[in-house]
Amino acid sequence: MYVIKNYSRLPVSFVRGEGVYLYDDKDKRYLDFLSGIAVCSLGHSHPKLVEAICGQAKELLHVSNLFENPWQEELAEKLVEEFWTAGKVFFCNSGTEANEAAIKLARKFFRDRGEDRYRIITFRKGFHGRTYGSLSATAQEQFHRGFEPILEGFDYAELNDIDSVRERLREDTAGIMLEVIQGEGGVNECDPEFLRGVQELCRERGVLLIVDEVQTGIGRTGRFYGYQHYGIEPDIITLAKGLGGGVPIGAMLARDEVAKHLTPGSHGSTFGGNALACRAGLVVVEEVKRLLPHVAEVGAYFRKKLEDLKVGKVKGRGLMLGLELERECRDVVLEALERGLVVNCTAGRVLRFLPPLTVEKEHVDEAVDILKRVL
Ligand SMILES: Cc1ncc(COP(=O)(O)O)c(C=O)c1O
Repeated sequence: MYVIKNYSRLPVSFVRGEGVYLYDDKDKRYLDFLSGIAVCSLGHSHPKLVEAICGQAKELLHVSNLFENPWQEELAEKLVEEFWTAGKVFFCNSGTEANEAAIKLARKFFRDRGEDRYRIITFRKGFHGRTYGSLSATAQEQFHRGFEPILEGFDYAELNDIDSVRERLREDTAGIMLEVIQGEGGVNECDPEFLRGVQELCRERGVLLIVDEVQTGIGRTGRFYGYQHYGIEPDIITLAKGLGGGVPIGAMLARDEVAKHLTPGSHGSTFGGNALACRAGLVVVEEVKRLLPHVAEVGAYFRKKLEDLKVGKVKGRGLMLGLELERECRDVVLEALERGLVVNCTAGRVLRFLPPLTVEKEHVDEAVDILKRVL
């Protein structure tokens, strides 16, 4: 009644969750193959996560970023340990904010060196968020409509087409920003060769490579960061979603040499990386590191089962999978929900699966059985 209707919500009200299951207000059980769109990486009510959050709530929820923050230090160290080189972390609250930080840092990096470079190349069907910088980086006009003018300084290229990147590179290009697997755009994976080409162009032209790992990061694809599958070395990566396991947190990691340009006072966030969010992040990161082989194994199993359905093209990696149908998939989502399976439809015809990273093969069997009946 009083909430703005900016979402088309599905007709279910979940009241509790346990592992990979959700329960609605009539106590009906659902298998959750969406995880709050890649957020609840450890499933629901994970005992270690619950304990850490409750414990921290009893001690201290928040102090301003005006003060020392040992929880951020601890979490940042864990995130940098997995990065390809020495780096530093800025904490915020969401994916769009992490990308705003990345865009600002890319501009500042060059401006501090007296170079007037500010443009960023992004990709068609990509998604980087809804605030103005990230929205402008999102090369999909449907998200811009009515909100124009979007920000100046973004050039849109075609994914997996290195010539289209080369054509858009200019003297004043500061960065190239991409998702190694586009999530919202329909689970579209970058070709390894294309990514290596982008990396080469970045090195040749001194352009920063920014990888948006908001959806692909924190174990989702079977590696800690999605870029690790492709042998590239980004200058900046952005994180959010799965990092807090359900507690809002975002992060931007940058190579030391780049990170140092985010000087005191240049950027900030009131809530970013508060004690509660970082404690949650610490538990998630510890657990996810252990779960990586599991994600790869169950992901491959799930992929095979989807392929065996022979109803469409299977896309993605690990536990970030898509099934591209010949038709619109919203009805499939509704019918699956009716039968107790939560999935999502993206880019019109792509059924998207983002189960908790703790999902087991028997849950995959259960989900595929439901899908089989629905399809
Ligand atoms: C790749 C990617 N980047 C950024 C975002 C924006 O994240 P948030 O909704 O937390 O702002 C999303 C959200 O779906 C995403 O998938």
